[in-house]
Amino acid sequence: MIRIVALGGTVNDKSMTEKALRYAARQAEKAGAVVDVFGGEYLTTLPHYGGPGHQDGAGTEMIEAVRKADGILIAAPGYHGTVSGVVKNALDFLEDLSGDTRPYLHARAVGLIATAAGEQASMGTLTTLRAIIHALRGWPTPMGATIKAMPDLFDDAGNCTDPRTSAQLEMVGEQVVMGARSLKLGSEA
Ligand SMILES: Cc1cc2nc3c(=O)[nH]c(=O)nc-3n(C[C@H](O)[C@H](O)[C@H](O)COP(=O)(O)O)c2cc1C
Repeated sequence: MIRIVALGGTVNDKSMTEKALRYAARQAEKAGAVVDVFGGEYLTTLPHYGGPGHQDGAGTEMIEAVRKADGILIAAPGYHGTVSGVVKNALDFLEDLSGDTRPYLHARAVGLIATAAGEQASMGTLTTLRAIIHALRGWPTPMGATIKAMPDLFDDAGNCTDPRTSAQLEMVGEQVVMGARSLKLGSEA
């Protein structure tokens, strides 16, 4: 079984970033993976990692899911040209995996999605996400999605109305499963 953890979103309860994440997650499921989603509602309850409100046990569900995962999907909005604080804070929690036998994102494929009002911020955010994933020893997929935030990009059922967007998200969802399978086989060899 291939396990994928999908994390991302914003404080916005109609977050387009989270809809993009869930769309890619559905593709990963179609490709045979089991996916756990940690969306904006969950991420915004996390305290600042290591700060005064950070108590033992914070983020445990997410950390345990990533610990067992073979691949990760991450979706972040571009805020002032880069990864939003809510998503970066969630990624900071992966520090809790530093002492594992598979530390951080070792041997995990990582599919990345960046959303923004403009192309410059979505590209900058994707590049920053890739740098973060390399620092965490993860393996970014060849395709990374840069999504231009537009009204009605997704309908209420989560279907995508724009072919450029859906094509990118489908590729990211498929590639994260392909990468996860390959890395799992390679690690067991
Ligand atoms: C604080 C803040 C900063 C933002 N900065 C940028 C930016 O620098 N460039 C840009 O294109 N869009 C920017 N945006 C727009 C977001 O990227 C856009 O709202 C996001 O992709 C979609 O958000 P949602 O998931 O909440 O729907 C910003 C939005 C906020 C709230």
